[in-house]
Amino acid sequence: MALTETAPNEQGYKSFSVGGFTFSRDEYFATITWPTGDHQIRIDEWLRCIQRDVAWGFFYGIVNFDQVIGTMNHYGNVDMFAGRFNDAYRKAEVDYNENFDHDELMACFTAMLSDWTNEGYDPFAAPMETGSAYGPNNGNNDDAITRERVVAERMVGLAGDEQIRSDESGFPVNRAFSDVAQDEPAVEIEPGYEDQVAAFNLFAYLSRSDVTWNPSVVSACKESLYCPTTEEFTLPVIHGNDRVEWFVQLSDEIQWDVEDRDSGAKRARVTMKAGDVAAMPADIRHQGYSAKRSMLLVWENGSNRIPEMIAKGEASVHPVEF
Ligand code: PHB
Ligand code: FE
Repeated sequence: MALTETAPNEQGYKSFSVGGFTFSRDEYFATITWPTGDHQIRIDEWLRCIQRDVAWGFFYGIVNFDQVIGTMNHYGNVDMFAGRFNDAYRKAEVDYNENFDHDELMACFTAMLSDWTNEGYDPFAAPMETGSAYGPNNGNNDDAITRERVVAERMVGLAGDEQIRSDESGFPVNRAFSDVAQDEPAVEIEPGYEDQVAAFNLFAYLSRSDVTWNPSVVSACKESLYCPTTEEFTLPVIHGNDRVEWFVQLSDEIQWDVEDRDSGAKRARVTMKAGDVAAMPADIRHQGYSAKRSMLLVWENGSNRIPEMIAKGEASVHPVEF
């Protein structure tokens, strides 16, 4: 099941094959084929999805690129599917699923992302803050697509951990957050506790984020992970949760479409304004829309045991009973 790639086509792009899937691109679209079908996705949307799956190591649970194509993480191995969570594809029996070793599918996605991303297009950026993904092959943007995801071991600001952002470190304040105060808390530490105490201004930190829809871990307390992110335009993927997630809207507004994870049936439309808190169940999929850049805190439990605990009935799909 090795990854194979072809010589560049007329537009200068390679095709990639892994298992039963083949991926090719032209000036406007990615085309995906599998033994029982084929599918197209606009190339800018495809690259935004692939970028996130690569940067997040396939994330929690299911990453739907659209209503048809996506991946399901089993933490070590991963499924790639077509039509698996789409009622019509399942009824017509043209859905397809294949399991891959994590590293094998990751190698395919990483090579595809690099070959298909043109100079000037940043799949992590908001549409108004980047160039076009369309057209014939034109250079690359490897600096942008290989950004390291921020993953604090304890907390941003502690010695030896992720550090706060500044103009000097290459993170200017985003145009939408010019009104966000940039002062930092004064911290006076008792001698002997220097490596255990820190504090930082989370709003200032987020105002300097250069990416959208990319939760980063700013603090970790055992399995409890604070993963704030700045959002603008749409979450490119439709995320199928495999655990409960808490959302705290820190600024502005995001609207969410919430559907049944497996069938796609509509479950809710949620409007979150600054200060709102939502508990997203473990059996849904959701996609968010942010008309203006906003700040969202995603609170995750990172334990790999949770999907199994839910399957065994040891953990609920609802974080809270009212
Ligand atoms: C989510 O699926 O919970 C999610 C993913 C990316 C974000 C925000 C929320 O930026
Ligand atoms: Fe989610």
